[in-house]
Amino acid sequence: MDASMLEETIQNPNPYPVIAALEYDDIWQLCLQARDLAWDPVRAIDWAELKRFGDTLPQEVRDAGAEWWSLRAWMEHGATPYGAERYRDAVFEHLPFEVKQHVVNFIAEELRHHEASFRVADALGGYQPIPRSDYFQMVIPKFHDERDEKAMPFYAGMAVNTLFEQLSGELLTARYKNAQHIAIKDACRLILRDEARHIQFGRILMRRFFATLTLEQKTTLGAKFAKKLRGSLLNGVYSVVNLPGEERKRAARARHLAAEYGLGATYPDEEVAIIADALAQIRADVAPYDVPIPIVVEIEGSSPAIKTAAE
Ligand SMILES: [Fe+2]
Ligand SMILES: [Fe+2]
Repeated sequence: MDASMLEETIQNPNPYPVIAALEYDDIWQLCLQARDLAWDPVRAIDWAELKRFGDTLPQEVRDAGAEWWSLRAWMEHGATPYGAERYRDAVFEHLPFEVKQHVVNFIAEELRHHEASFRVADALGGYQPIPRSDYFQMVIPKFHDERDEKAMPFYAGMAVNTLFEQLSGELLTARYKNAQHIAIKDACRLILRDEARHIQFGRILMRRFFATLTLEQKTTLGAKFAKKLRGSLLNGVYSVVNLPGEERKRAARARHLAAEYGLGATYPDEEVAIIADALAQIRADVAPYDVPIPIVVEIEGSSPAIKTAAE
């Protein structure tokens, strides 16, 4: 064979040896729950009824709902390339099978969330396969920076991701409460049920692995968390606060409209308060492990947010 052809061969990670002995029973329990609580986005939700409801809404509201749920769909889908990279790492590092199983479940579940979200968008006014504004097209690919992941050990990186799951879980809970239609409520509820498992995985990782991190790794972890939050998630997905002027106004107005009509959205002001609260909770959760999370000025101002709501 020609040597140059060999050079072009893609190097797949060597999957062997495969560790088949169960090492982390708590992670395996999550895998079993994932099987029991699996749901089908086509059959679990009454889409025809939502479509009928969508048809009764003013055009501007339909557009706002479709934009909002398309944005949610992109965000859910954005978790899948991240998951694929983690699966690859798990294979390279010969991690126990239950860790690989959880990552595969995670990918499948995020795809399921993507599907449920684009079906809501479709029923309301039409899923937008690509973001309508140039700005979103620019910012969405930046949601995940693989270089940041590679700067942390596998379990630390995954724990950072689950801190975001916790944050988006708090936002989705508020959006569930906002939802006036049963189909949107069901979509939020079923997604939240999966997210609870993703958050639980993060708690297991914290408990099992955070004590093994060096001070430098903990500082990196906190810094990466704040960077991702400020650099991408506040730019439209979690909140509109970091969007550039005109787009911020337009997006906030659409979000406001979707919330006003109970389409499973949140008012822009409300989002900031929820994120501040969740941030305070996350800081408290990682405090026992001495993981410093820098202040996120856009959300907290000059001093760290303090938890206000009862747990
Ligand atoms: Fe999700
Ligand atoms: Fe998730």
